[in-house]
Amino acid sequence: MFYATSAGVLALATAQFFTGVSANLKTCTNNNTLSCHSSSKAPTCCYNYPGGALLQTQFWDTDPSTGPSDSWTIHGLWPDNCDGTYESSCDSSRAYTNITEILKEQGRTSLLSYMDQYWVDIDGDNESFWAHEWGKHGTCINTIDPSCYTNYSAQEEVGDFFQKVVDLFKSLDTYKALSAAGITPSSSKTYTLSAIEAALSKVHDGSQAYLGCDNGSLNQVWYFFNVRGNAIDGQYDASAPLTKSSCPSSGIKYAPKSN
Ligand SMILES: *[C@@H]1O[C@H](CO)[C@@H](O)[C@H](O)[C@H]1NC(C)=O
Ligand SMILES: *[C@@H]1O[C@H](CO)[C@@H](O)[C@H](O)[C@H]1NC(C)=O
Ligand SMILES: *[C@@H]1O[C@H](CO)[C@@H](O)[C@H](O)[C@H]1NC(C)=O
Ligand SMILES: *[C@@H]1O[C@H](CO)[C@@H](O)[C@H](O)[C@H]1NC(C)=O
Ligand SMILES: *[C@@H]1O[C@H](CO)[C@@H](O)[C@H](O)[C@H]1NC(C)=O
Repeated sequence: MFYATSAGVLALATAQFFTGVSANLKTCTNNNTLSCHSSSKAPTCCYNYPGGALLQTQFWDTDPSTGPSDSWTIHGLWPDNCDGTYESSCDSSRAYTNITEILKEQGRTSLLSYMDQYWVDIDGDNESFWAHEWGKHGTCINTIDPSCYTNYSAQEEVGDFFQKVVDLFKSLDTYKALSAAGITPSSSKTYTLSAIEAALSKVHDGSQAYLGCDNGSLNQVWYFFNVRGNAIDGQYDASAPLTKSSCPSSGIKYAPKSN
């Protein structure tokens, strides 16, 4: 396999982290077009459209604090129409509210215990948060529609979705990447946007991530990807953010968690 861009070559080297978790999704061959890179308006099971950009989004919550003090937490995986706009709540018939039951039925108990630690709701209602993320964003990923499965069993794509989000999150350790650049939570220090962006580009194949601030305090990161193939076992290529950071260029706070 050969990719013309240097980003593509880097992505190829890391593609092993993103290999399949579903046995039953229809196979996509290597000739798949990279999402957001074709004029094609035909969504297929091997081409993410219109949500061709997939964003792995994370939180740094300190008021109240959620999750381990040395880790960011999961927000979700969001399809974006390659331009900063997005579709939402695409299939009310699959907007399940029993995510825990679904994952248990699929035997995904270690996934669930990971989610209980790293995919936590700021108000303590993890189940509603998970259902919200699935219903609002997950149902809009066209390549995991039930019709993209062979021998589909009910809610199979739900388990695949949650597993994929967790796998991506594990490959994007924001806390560790910042820490390696000397950017650690502090109640007194502040940081520049360019230093934070440079630190995070190291876990994102050289691409910048979107950074979100609340009142000058860092609290969100979104990693953008384009995908070759389906969203579960396709190849994720890092891409530049489609949304402008809400952080100031300097004086950014990174507050410690209280637990
Ligand atoms: C890509 O692969 C599919 C499945 O093998 C095939 O049907 C299609 O013709 C191929 N497309 C191109 C452009 O080679
Ligand atoms: C989850 O809810 C859906 C929709 O109500 C239902 O069809 C499915 O059987 C439920 N799954 C489990 C494991 O309870
Ligand atoms: C959500 O997860 C957090 C962290 O594990 C836990 O403390 C809390 O009890 C969970 N809430 C619910 C409703 O499961
Ligand atoms: C289809 O899936 C069911 C379980 O969901 C399994 O028992 C059956 O063997 C599968 N059939 C094929 C052809 O893979
Ligand atoms: C926003 O930040 C300023 C400066 O750190 C602080 O004085 C103020 O209380 C904060 N406002 C809110 C609503 O947190």
